Amino acid sequence: MYKILVTKELAPKVKLFEVAAPEIAEKAKPGQFIILIIGKTGERIPLTITGYDRKKGTISFVFNEVGKTTKQLGLMEEGECIETITGPLGNSSEIRNFGNVLCIGGGVMIAPMFLQVQALKEAGNKVTTVIGARIKDLLFFEDEMKAHSDKLYVTTDDGSKGYKGLDFLGKILAKEKFDHCVAMGPVVMMKNICEKTKPFGLRTIVTLTPIMVDGMGMCGVCRVTVAGKMKFACVDGPEFDGHAVDFDGLIKRQRLFLPEERLSSLLWEKLGGCTCGGN
Ligand SMILES: Cc1cc2nc3c(=O)[nH]c(=O)nc-3n(C[C@H](O)[C@H](O)[C@H](O)COP(=O)(O)OP(=O)(O)OC[C@H]3O[C@@H](n4cnc5c(N)ncnc54)[C@H](O)[C@@H]3O)c2cc1C
Ligand code: FES
Repeated sequence: MYKILVTKELAPKVKLFEVAAPEIAEKAKPGQFIILIIGKTGERIPLTITGYDRKKGTISFVFNEVGKTTKQLGLMEEGECIETITGPLGNSSEIRNFGNVLCIGGGVMIAPMFLQVQALKEAGNKVTTVIGARIKDLLFFEDEMKAHSDKLYVTTDDGSKGYKGLDFLGKILAKEKFDHCVAMGPVVMMKNICEKTKPFGLRTIVTLTPIMVDGMGMCGVCRVTVAGKMKFACVDGPEFDGHAVDFDGLIKRQRLFLPEERLSSLLWEKLGGCTCGGN
């Protein structure tokens, strides 16, 4: 059992949880993820580790309430316990002094990007950060990012704050030479970024979030195509060279169970919605 120590709403339907998990905190590194099960019979959901404190024995993660399980999780309170958390899973990010680095975090993935920004800055890089969301109310960690970045750009899809959309990236890339780029966010956003960085030959590492089940390379559900080869995002990733990723294939696979996911969330809400974790 993993006790929830702190809950914080960062934006509407976006929550940060800090949880007691000493054995995960001991080994966690930027870029890795956990898989949690809320109750005894709940589904397994992967979430990226957004922070860890080895002394306190805690980890944190940030999640968007998009479907049944994340909505259930969002109802949990400080002091309650999550049944199981497995991790840290996946490979950690490559953190070293690349030189001039561009970090782009979109939506809920702004949170794990903050961990990368801190680590890349500590490794001696010059860090330019871009954070983006659909609308200004969904932006968070702006001050924190500013404090750890040499430059910060803000963007929203509707232009309610900062630049409108990601087109301004082209201008930045034309003006300044970057040695390394990391992008985390919705798949469509990462695809868009890779199309912009490719002409500049800027290696772009993306975090892939396909549907996962075991997270240990056994079920094959998380398969993605990278450089024409099948990879399992949970054990071969979750970070990959974005210029080699088949994003369209990933988008198709992410939508495979959309009707079932919608039905499951609807039924759960109709039945009154609880945090017991059952299906
Ligand atoms: C390695 C990895 C790391 C992730 N890190 C985070 C994180 O830090 N924070 C966070 O909020 N989410 C993260 N996700 C996505 C998260 O796992 C899903 O949002 C979650 O499983 C949805 O569960 P649900 O039952 O609430 O919604 P579901 O009913 O399963 O789905 C509801 C909606 O969310 C979409 N969805 C489902 N699974 C995914 C997915 N894997 N990626 C994107 N969209 C999905 C569905 O297409 C549907 O539209 C990560 C996924 C992976 C694979
Ligand atoms: S989630 Fe099963 S192989 Fe990756």
